[in-house]
Amino acid sequence: MLKRRDFLRATLVTAGALAVPACGDDPEIIAPVLDDRELTDGAEFFPQSIASGDPRPDSVILWARVQDGEEDRELEVEVATDAEFTKRVALDAGQAKVKALARYDHCAKVKVRGLAAGTVYYYRFIYVKGDKNYVSRVGRTKTAPAEEADVNVRFAYVSCQDYIGRHYNTYLALAEEELDFFVHLGDYIYETTGDPGFQNTTGRGVELTDVEGAIALADGAFHAARSLSNYRELYRTYRSDANLQKVHESFPMIATWDDHEFSNDAHGATATYYDGRTDETDVDRRKAANQAWFEYQPVDHGDDFEYDPGAAFPGDIRIYRDFVFGRHVHLVMTDLRSYRPDHLIPEGAFPGKVVLDEARLVEELGDIPEVAQPYVDIEGYSDGIYASALAGAAQAAGYDAAEVTGNISVAFINQVVAGVNEGLPEDMQIPLIDPLEQGLERGIAYLDLGKTSMHSSIGSRYFTVKDTVDIHGAIRYKETQGASEDVMGAEQESWFLETMERSTATWKVWGNEYCLLPLAVDLSANNVPEQFKRRFYMNLDAWDGFRNKRNELLERLVDVGNVVAITGDIHAFYAGTAGLDGDPTKKIVEFVGGAVSSAPFREMLLGQVAGDPVLSAIPGAGLLAAGIDSVLTSTSTKVNPHLAHANSYAHGYVVVEANGDEFVVDMRSIDPTAVKTDYTARRGDLEVQSERFRTLAGESDIYRDDDGTWKRWDASRQKWI
Ligand SMILES: [Fe+2]
Repeated sequence: MLKRRDFLRATLVTAGALAVPACGDDPEIIAPVLDDRELTDGAEFFPQSIASGDPRPDSVILWARVQDGEEDRELEVEVATDAEFTKRVALDAGQAKVKALARYDHCAKVKVRGLAAGTVYYYRFIYVKGDKNYVSRVGRTKTAPAEEADVNVRFAYVSCQDYIGRHYNTYLALAEEELDFFVHLGDYIYETTGDPGFQNTTGRGVELTDVEGAIALADGAFHAARSLSNYRELYRTYRSDANLQKVHESFPMIATWDDHEFSNDAHGATATYYDGRTDETDVDRRKAANQAWFEYQPVDHGDDFEYDPGAAFPGDIRIYRDFVFGRHVHLVMTDLRSYRPDHLIPEGAFPGKVVLDEARLVEELGDIPEVAQPYVDIEGYSDGIYASALAGAAQAAGYDAAEVTGNISVAFINQVVAGVNEGLPEDMQIPLIDPLEQGLERGIAYLDLGKTSMHSSIGSRYFTVKDTVDIHGAIRYKETQGASEDVMGAEQESWFLETMERSTATWKVWGNEYCLLPLAVDLSANNVPEQFKRRFYMNLDAWDGFRNKRNELLERLVDVGNVVAITGDIHAFYAGTAGLDGDPTKKIVEFVGGAVSSAPFREMLLGQVAGDPVLSAIPGAGLLAAGIDSVLTSTSTKVNPHLAHANSYAHGYVVVEANGDEFVVDMRSIDPTAVKTDYTARRGDLEVQSERFRTLAGESDIYRDDDGTWKRWDASRQKWI
C-alpha cells in the first residue's frame, strides 16, 4: 500500500499533479500524464510481449522481456487506469524502473503494490535506448476484489498447450471472454521437440539451438530440453504465439506447473523416457526447468525472491500458493510434481515376479483374495526345468535372465513356455503348468498388476489392473507409512489442508494438476482375451496412482464443504465427483478442462494402443480406445458412476462464474481437427461449443444445463434427472 508520505512526495515531485482517489478512502493515487515524451513502437525489443499475473487486492505482478544484446537492461514501467495512460498510477522508484538481467534471460518482473481492489489497470514497459523510448504493447490486468466484497468472480482455466504443429485457436476464442483472470494448470510448454508418441511432426515446430545441451531421444529423431538455454528457448518460442500473447495482454494469469514444464510423467527430478532402463534423475535439469519457469511466468514468489541456481531441489522454488477473490472464491494452487514419489509399479519391473506372496496376503488381508494367482518357486519347482526354459527365452522375450529367480507367476511361465514350444517338435515341448494343480500357492505378480512387458509405461503408469493395484497400493501405503503416496510432501500438505479448512470463502477452489476422480474401464464383458477381462485404471500418473492419500485428503476436504477441484493434464473435459472409499455420497466436485492444443485423450489412447505390441494385438482394442467416452460412462459396467460427463476428443477451455449460491462452469470446446489450422485471420469459421454445468453451495452434486433447465446427476442411476 502506498503510504500517505509517499503520496505527498509523489504529488510534490510532479508539478501540477492531481490525486484522484479511485474509490472510497483507498490510498491509491492517480496522476495525470507526467510527461509527453515521444514513444516509439518497441515490438522488436519485446518479442514475447508482456504479461501479468498473481492478482491480489492491492498488487499484481507485471512481466516483460527485453531482447537487445547481452548486457543487463533496465525497463520503465507505467501503470494507469485507462488504456491511453492519461490517468497514471504514481509508482515508487523501485517499481517504476525494473532490471532485465542477463542472468535471467532479460526477463523482468515487478510487483506493483498499493493498487485499488477489483480494478482494471493498464500497463506498459518502456525501453529507453539512445534518444528513443521504445514502448511495449499495452497490457490490461485486474486486481482481486477486496476479501469482504460480495462479488461474482469470473475466470477461465486452461492446460496443455503443445505448440508443435498445433495452433492456439483456443486462445483466439478465450481472448474474447470477459474475465477477471485465467488459471493455467500446467503443461504450458512441452519439453520435447516432436515426440511421435503424442506430438505432431509436421507444421510449426521448435528448434533447440543448444542441441548439445539437450537429450537426444529415439536415436536423435527428436530432443528433450535439458539445459537452461533449451528451456528458455521453449518459453520464448511458445510466447511468440500471437494468440497466447493476446490472452496475456488481456488478463492476469495464475499458473502452476505439471510435468511437461520439466519432463513427461516426471516425479521430482526424475524423467521417465527410458522406462526404467536407466536412472533418469537429473537435478541440474530440473533446476534449469524451474529457473526458466521463474524467469518467464508472472508469478508472485514472495517479496524479493530471486531464483538461486545454487539452491538444492526441492526447495529451490516454492510455487504452491493461494488467492482470495472476495467472499466467494478462494483459489488454492498446488504443486503435485516436485515432491511426489515414483509410481507404484516400476516401469522396469519383471512381469513374472511375485510382489505379494500368499503368506503376506493372508497376513494383511486375513485371507487369499480372489484375484490372487498361482505361482511357483522357479528354482525348486519341477527340478528347475522352468527356470532353465525362462532363462533361455529371456532375451527373445525382452527381459534379463537374472530376473528369473524366486516366486514366479504361473501365467507368466506358461506364456513364455508356450512361445518356446512353438519352435520345438512336439516330443521336445515343455508341458505347461496346470494353474489348478493342487498345492500351488497364490499371490500377486507384476503381471497381475498389468505389467506385460519390461520397460514399458503400459502396466506401470497406464492401463493397470484395478483390483490388484488396489490391494498392492494399500499394503505399500501401510508398510511405507504413507511415503509411497506422499504426493504433496508434508509441508505442502499441511499448508493445503489448513488453508482449505481456515478459508471463509463460499468456494474453496483447488487448482489441481491431474485428475482426482477415479477413471477405470471394465472390459470383463468385452470380446477380448481372458487376461484383459478385468477392470483397469487408465492412468496411475494421476490421483488414481495415489488412492490411499486421495482418500485421506478427501476425508478432510469433504468436511470443509464446497470444495471444487479444477483440473487439467488429461486432455479431456470431465465433470464428476471424487468420493470417499466406502461412501461415495461423501464427495467433492471436479471439473476437468480439455487441452488448449495438445492431442486429446482419445487421440493419445489410439496412439498408445497402436504403439504397444501387446495392446495392438488385442482385437477391437482400437475400437475401445475410439469409444473411450462410452466405455468410461457405461451404464452396464457401472465402473465410473461418479463420472457425469465425458468428452475426451475436443480442445478448449472452461469459464467459471462463481457467487454465493452457485459455481457454474461453461466447457467451451473446439473440434480437434481445427488444431492444425490457424484461425486467427478467419475467426468466424472457428466454432466453439458450449456445455454448462454447475454445483450449488452446501451440496456436492453436479447439474447440467439442459436447454435452460438444470438437471441433476444421479450417480446411482447414472442419469440426469
Ligand atoms: Fe498435457
